[in-house]
Amino acid sequence: MAIQLKDVRFAYPQTPNKTVLDIKHWTVAEQEHVFVHGPSGGGKSTLLNLLSGMLAASHGEVSVLGQPLNTMSNRQRDRFRADHIGYIFQQFNLIDYLDPIDNIQLAHHFSKKDKTAISHDDITALLATFNITEAEWNKPVAQLSIGQQQRIAIARAMINKPELLIADEPTSSLDQQNRDNFMSELMAMAKDNNVTLLFVSHDMSLAKYFERIDALSDINAAGESH
Ligand SMILES: Nc1ncnc2c1ncn2[C@@H]1O[C@H](COP(=O)(O)OP(=O)(O)O)[C@@H](O)[C@H]1O
Ligand SMILES: [Mg+2]
Repeated sequence: MAIQLKDVRFAYPQTPNKTVLDIKHWTVAEQEHVFVHGPSGGGKSTLLNLLSGMLAASHGEVSVLGQPLNTMSNRQRDRFRADHIGYIFQQFNLIDYLDPIDNIQLAHHFSKKDKTAISHDDITALLATFNITEAEWNKPVAQLSIGQQQRIAIARAMINKPELLIADEPTSSLDQQNRDNFMSELMAMAKDNNVTLLFVSHDMSLAKYFERIDALSDINAAGESH
């Protein structure tokens, strides 16, 4: 199992009486591509942050790639995330003033799975597979098009060869054309690399790309009360 949740409950420390997530049982098999949809404020990002170990559940079992995150220290969870999980954010979170190579180098720096430094050639080869050509390698990413930035964000998420790829509404700031391109590239890449893909969004028009579609409200009992 890539993901296994059992009796998971989560509330933010500032609002301990407001249960954001209450998940009895939910699993994702290895190499599954799952789309989880739900309205804004429903708890999608909170769920992803529990799975990546950025947040810790107050109750229950969160197992990712066979590892029980709920028994790990913060430090162990940070290590686990850097080594095994690729994350694509809503606004891509690239560092504007760094070029594509340095953005990817930085992501690799946080992983110790592969102790060898990644070579310039490895990064440029990866960029080439995402159609980022030599002319773009040394430009600050802020000067690149939105389409180029999204492909760099996927490349960066893949640099550590994660087993699990998590995407948090990465298409919400894209127009139709860029959105279609992004989804095609993401799905092809997930398939080629045999990764488990968990993608969350409020946008149901993206569901067509996925073999499995889950409503957060079916997974999360806390959603029923508000
Ligand atoms: N850092 C935080 N501190 C306190 N409450 C938060 C925090 N982040 C999100 N929330 C609350 O948790 C609920 C779920 O938010 P979120 O997981 O961001 O939903 P979604 O990603 O589906 O829009 C919302 O009510 C939101 O206000
Ligand atoms: Mg969110």
